[in-house]
Amino acid sequence: MTKRGRFITLEGGEGVGKSTNVGFVAELLEAQGLEVVRTREPGGTVRGEAIRGLLLDPAPQEPLHVDAELLLMFAARAQHLAEKILPALARGAWVVCDRFTDATFAYQGGGRGIANERIAVLENFVQQGLSPDLTLLLDMPENAAKQRLESRLRDRSEQRDRFEQEQADFFQAVRNAYLARAQEAPERFAVIDAQHSLDTVQAQIRHTLLERVAEWR
Ligand code: TMP
Repeated sequence: MTKRGRFITLEGGEGVGKSTNVGFVAELLEAQGLEVVRTREPGGTVRGEAIRGLLLDPAPQEPLHVDAELLLMFAARAQHLAEKILPALARGAWVVCDRFTDATFAYQGGGRGIANERIAVLENFVQQGLSPDLTLLLDMPENAAKQRLESRLRDRSEQRDRFEQEQADFFQAVRNAYLARAQEAPERFAVIDAQHSLDTVQAQIRHTLLERVAEWR
């Protein structure tokens, strides 16, 4: 029987350098001879990416209800699990995912104020016990992340998406919720101090990851 692959997620607020490091993680694992599937949420499938469009579209003429936002996150996730994540893990591939359900607890829970218990109901319904094997949480103070986000937005021509339009108190609540999640599951989370230079951050990631690979193989 093929050994099930491992499921690794990267999390963090806006501007913490997550996208760059998703590529770094995938390349590190590939260099270990592992088959890697790199993906993201919300999205990762054709229908999931369409749902992502609905979620990020600022469309000021009609605000998105918080429960609709929550359900769309899980709708995209259900499709993602069925189409991509579960088949990859079953054939022994390692899945590296840019955000997963911890983001829902952080953004829809911490940021929007939905009770964790309500999110957990959907988590159980959609994931049926599946959770990441390792979650790298890129953490930095809200004001440092904001500065990075602002400079990224200056280099980008598109307008801010629905989440990027939020204010400091929203992002502070997101960060607090992420840190609380990490405290509740310290064996799954590695909290990476993302304030340092890219080299230092990636050295921390490499150390954590190679330790886990050695343990799991
Ligand atoms: P990205 O910035 O990583 O591309 O993700 C898009 C946005 O979606 C980001 O602002 C965080 C948000 N998000 C949630 O609010 N809840 C979730 O469950 C996920 C996966 C993302």
